[in-house]
Amino acid sequence: MNATLHIVGVGPGDPDLLTRKALRTLEGCPVIATPKGSKNGSSTALSIVEQALSLDKKEIIELYFPMKKIHLDSAPADEVQEAWKNGADQILNFMEQGKDVAFLTLGDPAIYSTGYYLYETILSLHPEIRVEFIPGISAMSSCSAATSVPICLGDDKLAVIPATFSGEQLRQTLESFDTIVLMKVHRVLDQLIDLLRELGLLEKAVLVERAGMKEENILTDLGSIRDQVHYFSTIIVRKRPGCRK
Ligand SMILES: C[S@@+](CC[C@H](N)C(=O)[O-])C[C@H]1O[C@@H](n2cnc3c(N)ncnc32)[C@H](O)[C@@H]1O
Repeated sequence: MNATLHIVGVGPGDPDLLTRKALRTLEGCPVIATPKGSKNGSSTALSIVEQALSLDKKEIIELYFPMKKIHLDSAPADEVQEAWKNGADQILNFMEQGKDVAFLTLGDPAIYSTGYYLYETILSLHPEIRVEFIPGISAMSSCSAATSVPICLGDDKLAVIPATFSGEQLRQTLESFDTIVLMKVHRVLDQLIDLLRELGLLEKAVLVERAGMKEENILTDLGSIRDQVHYFSTIIVRKRPGCRK
């Protein structure tokens, strides 16, 4: 097969944070595949790209991927595997016609992105296929920039963890590292705040909602949060100096 699949990080939300390489690649691809987390919803990654590039002449494939926890030590739910296979089949269908495809992914493809699951699925079907990854600006980089809180300095140890996993793993991580980036916090925020308070870390935490988007919101007093926060929310806990808190 001559076509190439480009897995493109589109940054956290601000179209100005799309890299030149990402834009150049998207301009050159006749087909754009974009993920969405609900069947009838829209794709955030696509909405970022639309602000920077005309998609009039592109073929757009919207791919639904259910938002389910994935434990790498066990097989993912059937529904999840079916979505990866369906996404791979749709992309391969265009590639078999010789068309390059760009698969959009929010932030950077290396960080909790469907891009890699799709990559593995496609390679299992067509090991010869050419795939290129284009890095993007990650949400945590954007949250760091928005708050002027560095992620790691000097001999700092950094952990990045999805907050939806076991409380014990979370506690150990919060105890052991100097900076902890907590992602996917929205559904577990109350428990997380209780844990941060218990560990004396509430004052060291900052939450950024929709970093790089026009609705960006920085919350430094986590103890006073009363409302549900958006899915696009990340907490940086930084214990050592070099931060504004
Ligand atoms: C599936 S992960 C995607 C991460 C993405 N690949 C990256 O490089 O940042 C989704 C999580 O990323 C974080 N996130 C994504 N976009 C964000 C944004 N604009 N502001 C704050 N957090 C964001 C949230 O923690 C969200 O639950």
